Amino acid sequence: MRRMFVAGNWKMNTLARSAVELAGALARAVPARLPKVDVAVCPPFPYLSAVGGTIARSGVELGAQNAWHEKPGAFTGEVAVEMLVDLGCRWVILGHSERRLIFGESDELVSRKTEAALAGGLDVILCVGETFEQRQAGRTEAVLDSQMQGSLAGIDSRAVGKVVIAYEPVWAIGTGVTATTEQAQSAHLYLRTWLSRCYNPDVAAATRILYGGSVKPQNAQLLLEQPDVDGALVGGASLKAEDFLPIVRAAEAVRKG
Ligand code: PGA
Repeated sequence: MRRMFVAGNWKMNTLARSAVELAGALARAVPARLPKVDVAVCPPFPYLSAVGGTIARSGVELGAQNAWHEKPGAFTGEVAVEMLVDLGCRWVILGHSERRLIFGESDELVSRKTEAALAGGLDVILCVGETFEQRQAGRTEAVLDSQMQGSLAGIDSRAVGKVVIAYEPVWAIGTGVTATTEQAQSAHLYLRTWLSRCYNPDVAAATRILYGGSVKPQNAQLLLEQPDVDGALVGGASLKAEDFLPIVRAAEAVRKG
């Protein structure tokens, strides 16, 4: 059985005080590891330390939104995997569509980051997803296929056990438009079948595939009930405890099979 996983991607939001307040509200509501759901927050780099201190000894885990794949050295403005580990991060989000589209990150760069993160001891939330134009052109599966091939190049079936996939259709991110349950389930099933074909059926059965893109308290339950949806990567609705916690509760309440 795959444990559900709800992760908050705070993106470039919060300030020191609001980050700690939000983290504190989540830590109070999730004081210990929940029986069925893993919970993580991914604040901006400058607040990782303070948020990490606030959620210590709670059931909320710490993640970063990005990392650089080289060892510490002359890479102005970048953050190394070992720095994130040093700060208590368990997770790192890689390949987010904002990194791919705004900052031009290629599948090849994402694969190097994934390799470095896994080698350095982080678990990876690897994001894939098609744009509106790609979906309209009937290319969703081809896009997912090439993003998975490219981003996981060089990751063997043992290492991939530390990877969670996040299916995030670009047209659903921050737009208020959510994928229908059928669209989400169909993409998730495609990704699981891909894992079975390119790794093996055990990897496919064990790997968690999160949905991301305008997940809200109102739509979380139906999405999370889909057989191949194992949790949510939440952007906007992760910035308020009163929006994020109901999504965690929805994940706890889901019954499958
Ligand atoms: P959203 O963002 O929930 O605000 O759509 C999701 C994401 O980008 O991970």
